[in-house]
Amino acid sequence: VSPPPDPVRLALVGFGSVGRRFAELLGGPYGRVLRARGLRPRVTGIATARHGLAVDPEGLPLARALSLARAGRTLDPLHRGPRLRTIADFIRRVPADVLFEITPLDPRTGQPAIRHAQMALRRGLHVVTANKGPVAFARRSLRALARRQGVGFLHEGAVMDGTPIFNLAERCLPGARVLGFRGLLNSTTTRILSRMEQGRSAEEALREAQAAGVTEADPRHDLEGWDAAVKGCVLANALMGADVRPPQVRRKGISGITGAQAQAALRSGHRLRLIVRAVRAPRGVLVSVGPEKVPVGDFLVSAGSDGALVLATDLMGEIGIWEGAGGVDQTAYALLSDLVAVLEGA
Ligand SMILES: NC(=O)c1ccc[n+]([C@@H]2O[C@H](COP(=O)([O-])OP(=O)(O)OC[C@H]3O[C@@H](n4cnc5c(N)ncnc54)[C@H](OP(=O)(O)O)[C@@H]3O)[C@@H](O)[C@H]2O)c1
Repeated sequence: VSPPPDPVRLALVGFGSVGRRFAELLGGPYGRVLRARGLRPRVTGIATARHGLAVDPEGLPLARALSLARAGRTLDPLHRGPRLRTIADFIRRVPADVLFEITPLDPRTGQPAIRHAQMALRRGLHVVTANKGPVAFARRSLRALARRQGVGFLHEGAVMDGTPIFNLAERCLPGARVLGFRGLLNSTTTRILSRMEQGRSAEEALREAQAAGVTEADPRHDLEGWDAAVKGCVLANALMGADVRPPQVRRKGISGITGAQAQAALRSGHRLRLIVRAVRAPRGVLVSVGPEKVPVGDFLVSAGSDGALVLATDLMGEIGIWEGAGGVDQTAYALLSDLVAVLEGA
């Protein structure tokens, strides 16, 4: 393992909730974590879709970048050097060692994040992402490209925020094979179904979830199981060596479920929940999403959870991974833990 660069130059493509939180924490506890490991982080570039971009080889003033972004203003005044016209220009030219891809997910194609990751890897930058798109649609080719370039492509934040799944499977289970998994991974449908158990109509429960700001911009992505299907692909591709894309997932959403069904399930000692499963089959890994009656005592439906996953392995039996309330802080932590992993040669 070659020694990490000093300073470590970081470029952010996307400076929304996750990117900004990461930058805030880099000025505090994350900076301390890195310095304690002998690493000196320096953010040399930030790019956005509609709020400009800025590069400074000496390091951008993060507090100023954050206050411009919070005010909805452009980052352009912070830029030093020749003008960069496009995101592609930015990715090709920013002086950096690690690129963070933290733009929004396009659940139909995974773009433009896949292109961003490819451009950065081809340049020999490590890539860290919390975006599910590149992992669900192109993980195999991106990992192969990263290997050829001698860099890392890591994505801990793509499922269950920063809860360790991928880094755990990769580092702590040597030689063990993941045979399959089952997971409760879409918090919007969990919330809606639990409100329906309490007597709310499906429409009321959806309105409540929207008011709480937990649904996707288009709630059909949650209700029809697309979000869960994308997560199922991310997990199957990363943990089981599959190459499954969201359209190949056998998918059923919760739109047809009535409050009466949710309540009847509960009376019989079950909770109706949208469950993602993967199994190994003779022709490859099969991923499915659909509503299931889960026994009330099951690990997946224990109280207070934002998500839960059970991996079935050959050498370690079943392993459960559980997340309490998750969100932006946990996702920002995933960027930090992946950053440490790529710099330490994982
Ligand atoms: N929020 C969470 O808790 C969470 C949890 C797990 C995973 N994630 C994933 O993390 C990623 C980022 O989430 P977020 O909540 O930070 O999103 P967000 O608040 O919507 O911010 C997205 C950022 O990306 C920029 N952007 C959009 N399209 C771009 C493009 N083509 N090129 C360059 N920049 C572009 C936006 O620029 P403008 O501001 O100019 O539009 C904005 O700065 C997403 O893929 C999300 O699914 C988020």
